[in-house]
Amino acid sequence: MVNVIGISGSPRIKGNTTLLIKKALESAKNAGANTKFIHLGKLDISPCKACNKCKETGFCSIKDDMGDVLKTISDAQGLILGSPVYFGNVTAQLKIFMDRSRPLRIDFSLRNVVSGAVSVGASRNGGQETTCAAIHDYLLIQDAIIVGDGAPAAHYGATGVGGGVNDCKNDDVGLETAKNLGKRITDLAIKINK
Ligand SMILES: Cc1cc2nc3c(=O)[nH]c(=O)nc-3n(C[C@H](O)[C@H](O)[C@H](O)COP(=O)(O)O)c2cc1C
Repeated sequence: MVNVIGISGSPRIKGNTTLLIKKALESAKNAGANTKFIHLGKLDISPCKACNKCKETGFCSIKDDMGDVLKTISDAQGLILGSPVYFGNVTAQLKIFMDRSRPLRIDFSLRNVVSGAVSVGASRNGGQETTCAAIHDYLLIQDAIIVGDGAPAAHYGATGVGGGVNDCKNDDVGLETAKNLGKRITDLAIKINK
């Protein structure tokens, strides 16, 4: 069985990003994956301080909740990274996660992990695509395999519109693209890891 991990960079515990990532994970489970959800907003994770210890030892010198997150994603065959749009980009929480995941790049643990993006903005053209692109850039540098929401739409991943908590419950496109992203990631992860 493949493990598909969803990570939310929203500070809001029950916000729209969580809702769409959970939808994607539900679909991943239906397609045959083990799933796990991580909410960065609940964790204590400090920014990278560029001590470069990870380049010498392969481990981060900061002892906080990121250690467990790294362990969990080292064992993933599928990865879903989600963020609300903040000024056209990812949240500080997701960026800190990205920077602190540098130890995984020492031996390229995310190589060939089938990965995709979820983003939610309050406006229809609020920066969902630029936020997905920022996540895709990160995944490229980790040598992961990037997929979108697959055919028939086959766009950037899951993109939602909603400002208030739970607005995405009524966002048909957001829910559909999230469902399709979870299935696309799982189908390809199963194929690659046969
Ligand atoms: C600091 C900040 C910046 C934001 N910038 C944007 C933006 O550039 N475009 C947009 O559409 N929405 C923007 N929003 C709205 C959020 O993306 C939106 O409320 C989203 O639903 C939050 O996701 P969440 O419910 O998962 O926390 C911003 C919100 C905050 C707090």
